[in-house]
Amino acid sequence: MAIKQESIKEEIISWRRHIHENPELGFEEVETSNFIYELLETFPNLEVSRPTKTSVLAVLKGKKVTESPLSIAFRADIDALPIVEETDVPFKSKNVGVMHACGHDTHTAMLLGAAKELSTRIEEISGEIRFIFQHAEEVSPGGALGLVEQRVVDGVDHIFALHVDPYLKSGTIGMKDDVWCAAIDDFEITIIGKGGHAAMPEKTIDPIVIGAEVVTNLQQIVARKISALQVPVLSVVVFQSGNVLNVIPETAYIGGTLRSLDHLSRNEAKKYVNQIVKGITEAHGASYKINWMDGYDPVINDKETVAISRNAAIEVFGKEYVIHQDKPMFGGEDFSAYLQKAPGSMQFIGIYNEKLGNDFPLHHPKFMVDEDALQYGTEYFVKIAENICMK
Ligand code: NI
Repeated sequence: MAIKQESIKEEIISWRRHIHENPELGFEEVETSNFIYELLETFPNLEVSRPTKTSVLAVLKGKKVTESPLSIAFRADIDALPIVEETDVPFKSKNVGVMHACGHDTHTAMLLGAAKELSTRIEEISGEIRFIFQHAEEVSPGGALGLVEQRVVDGVDHIFALHVDPYLKSGTIGMKDDVWCAAIDDFEITIIGKGGHAAMPEKTIDPIVIGAEVVTNLQQIVARKISALQVPVLSVVVFQSGNVLNVIPETAYIGGTLRSLDHLSRNEAKKYVNQIVKGITEAHGASYKINWMDGYDPVINDKETVAISRNAAIEVFGKEYVIHQDKPMFGGEDFSAYLQKAPGSMQFIGIYNEKLGNDFPLHHPKFMVDEDALQYGTEYFVKIAENICMK
């Protein structure tokens, strides 16, 4: 491991604990972003700014002249979740009802460590390194979109991020090519029929029977409309209609979620949902409304950028500790927003330690982190910078 100084390891942990103890929700990260901003200002050579109200950007412009200098970006998210913390760590959340249960405190601390390390090496660096401390990852449509609009990744050749994984052992890192996580789109369908007496259905347009047909037919999309190799998940999770035993209601409400791993199947599935609802309701003389709540795009890692990640990971963690991951997850991440502008690689870093017994999932009130893992995350970012901007 290249980081030999105990001091940076301790600093990373102390920053992490400070942020953990003072969590703030998405778009409300006032104290968190102040802390990050003020700390970055104490490191040399960084141009620190606030692209949005509660995000922070630090830019390090290298002084070394080379023929084709590259720009790279690292991103950490800084927001917490509306969860009451149930751990008994000494730095437990002081903001009751808000908790860093997704490890964004650790993402921030690891990246602060890399900013500190790299800020003193400006003479060796060619090109540009951007450190993005992003607000509101947990709040759809996510803070990343605002930063993309503020052009924080314009001209970036590669962007990198890490997320902690409580199921990967501390001291290991996952490497996933191609799709890392799904696109999430929720939908609401209202079938508008014609209510009436339950004894005279011929005088009504029954939205329940039509709705039942819609629900059944939506499964045709994943079973018969899209290739089994690209199939999304489509779940109907709400069906509400009627409340009296002798009345056929006027409307039926259906809610669900679509999770797709690529743009093509996502667009196809949405098209078929619209088509099936329209076809079935019209066939029975009813009408309908569909409301799509588009979530994050899928995170699709870039091949060349993953190769850079993998090389750095092997150097920092050792080959046997770089875990090949072959399955994407069906959760969402707004890191995808940056990928519209720059090729990227988002990967999982292990934080599980048997002795700590911290196998609670992300977003759990007892979620905990093996802090010994954090220095490796910092070193991973530093190594990427060395390999790209200091050759
Ligand atoms: Ni997260």
